[in-house]
Amino acid sequence: MIPAEDLQCLKTIALRGGCKGPIFVSSQSIGEILAISPQTASRRLKGLETQGFINRTIAADGQHVTLTGTGEEELRKEYQEYIRIFSEHNKGFVLNGTVVSGIGEGKYYMSLEAYKQQFNTHLGFEPYPGTLNIRLSSSSLPVRKKIDALNWIRIKGFSTDGRTFGDAKCLPCRIGNISCGIVMPGRTHYPTDIIEVIAPIALRRKLGVEDTDTVTVEVDQ
Ligand code: CDP
Repeated sequence: MIPAEDLQCLKTIALRGGCKGPIFVSSQSIGEILAISPQTASRRLKGLETQGFINRTIAADGQHVTLTGTGEEELRKEYQEYIRIFSEHNKGFVLNGTVVSGIGEGKYYMSLEAYKQQFNTHLGFEPYPGTLNIRLSSSSLPVRKKIDALNWIRIKGFSTDGRTFGDAKCLPCRIGNISCGIVMPGRTHYPTDIIEVIAPIALRRKLGVEDTDTVTVEVDQ
């Protein structure tokens, strides 16, 4: 990786037009911009040339410098990283909480064929029979509110053997690199500090977690 001070110097030259063609600089002017002495600026320019990041021709009172393709590439890498940091598109949601036990209802619902099939269609996996209940930390409660506005998948209710099962909704998410889904029943009074996560595998076993252990759930929308 290119040292930060070299990158900063490259950026200064590029901002003055050094990607397009030779620009005139002096050690004095570069030094002033970077708040370093002219001697240090001179060494830095020489260093950039040695590393193949700029071409220079020395003039009487300064030098003409141009970024090389390699130099421009270094700046571009940095630019890509800023895109990753600031792009709206890449902003995900992170929910932290601790594992809690429920009353074993999840296992029952996740074993019903009509629900199983819909999860398979929409999430691409057949859920392990159960839901991992996570009690959210207080700092994740505002995030929990925000994800309400995302595009949840509607899971349709159905009737079988004279019983009616309600609608639910589901949001694709991840725990580490395991694809999971947050499921929420359609009924209204659901606690806002609990989420239930389904996955293709037994999460407690895979993650080695039990009640009160911390887990992080990420939503990539
Ligand atoms: O009601 P409770 O969450 O305790 O149980 P459940 O939903 O019936 O799930 C059965 C057990 O499997 C619970 O201990 C869940 O935490 C666990 N589970 C898991 O480890 N991985 C999953 N993908 C789903 C549930």
